[in-house]
Amino acid sequence: MKCLITGSNGLIGAHLAEFLLGKGLQVFATIRSSRQNLRGLEEKIHPVWCDITDSSAVTRVMTEVKPDRVFHLAAQSLPARSWDDPETTLRVNVFGTLQVLEAVRKLRLDCTVVTIGSSAEYGTPDETVDRISEEARLAPSSPYGVSKVCSDLLSALYAQAFGMKIIRVRPFFVVGPGWAANACVDFSRRIVEVERGRAQEISVGNLEAVRDLVDVRDAVQALWLLAEKGIPGEVYNLCSGQGHTIAAVLERLILLSGRAIPVVRDPQKYRPLDTPVLVGDCNRLQNLGWQPEIPLEQTLADILSFWRRVAATAA
Ligand SMILES: NC(=O)c1ccc[n+]([C@@H]2O[C@H](COP(=O)([O-])OP(=O)(O)OC[C@H]3O[C@@H](n4cnc5c(N)ncnc54)[C@H](OP(=O)(O)O)[C@@H]3O)[C@@H](O)[C@H]2O)c1
Repeated sequence: MKCLITGSNGLIGAHLAEFLLGKGLQVFATIRSSRQNLRGLEEKIHPVWCDITDSSAVTRVMTEVKPDRVFHLAAQSLPARSWDDPETTLRVNVFGTLQVLEAVRKLRLDCTVVTIGSSAEYGTPDETVDRISEEARLAPSSPYGVSKVCSDLLSALYAQAFGMKIIRVRPFFVVGPGWAANACVDFSRRIVEVERGRAQEISVGNLEAVRDLVDVRDAVQALWLLAEKGIPGEVYNLCSGQGHTIAAVLERLILLSGRAIPVVRDPQKYRPLDTPVLVGDCNRLQNLGWQPEIPLEQTLADILSFWRRVAATAA
């Protein structure tokens, strides 16, 4: 079976590539610039150079590969950056998805396409809601969230209008060892700097936000399960159903480091609109037989170890 991953050098893409290779599948991986996260896999994957916004490049890749499964992960994935560059965010996330769907449709490829939305589509949920289900109102609070709503609705439309096998996924906060931009990585890198005597403190933004964290290794199992068993056109939250404050995450990382590291608030690190609580309901996914296996403690320890290794190699 041939699997095509767009955005393969991303945190999720690289772990997915490793997972699919472990299943003995052929992995075709689109690469745009960096291969940082694909180290160790380069000999095993089939790299294909492609900017996802370039329709002829996407058509060429689809024509050459003729994939059985497409995992469309390529995106401008940072909500904060989407305020600085909404145009690129919309172009990559909306038109990129359109190019993928159009290529599959026009070439009449008989494949399953997994498209990736985000919990950012929900924006700030109703305070009375404990866990956000897939039925919740979509009210994004960043250009990134808007781009993911558009991409998601395009996926729903193409599934309905053309009978395409498209599975829509809304991940919450996917974290794990690897190059990525998120609070766990920022904290871990800073802790490693303190451990190596290059910094004295950690400066932070909003620590009160509550987030639903999923280990990337659990997340890629879910993506595979959805590609195999998901209902076309249906949308699935990818989350753990457990909320953690960012303060608690930082506290655990500091404890793992075994040092007393001062934490300093930096108002510049606050976002224009920050959702206070974002915890998902993963019943749909659990009904297909998935559940998160890796405890947060393990995830955080692995992230910290990863950044210690990076620092040691660079020294
Ligand atoms: N991680 C999360 O918590 C989370 C949560 C919700 C949704 N998601 C979504 O899940 C997907 C994967 O997330 P991730 O964390 O793995 O993201 P990531 O680490 O930022 O990876 C995104 C990938 O997309 C590639 N890309 C960006 N623009 C491109 C373009 N124009 N053409 C081709 N490739 C392009 C990047 O290439 P380069 O490596 O060259 O930059 C990168 O490999 C994204 O769609 C993201 O929005 C992630």
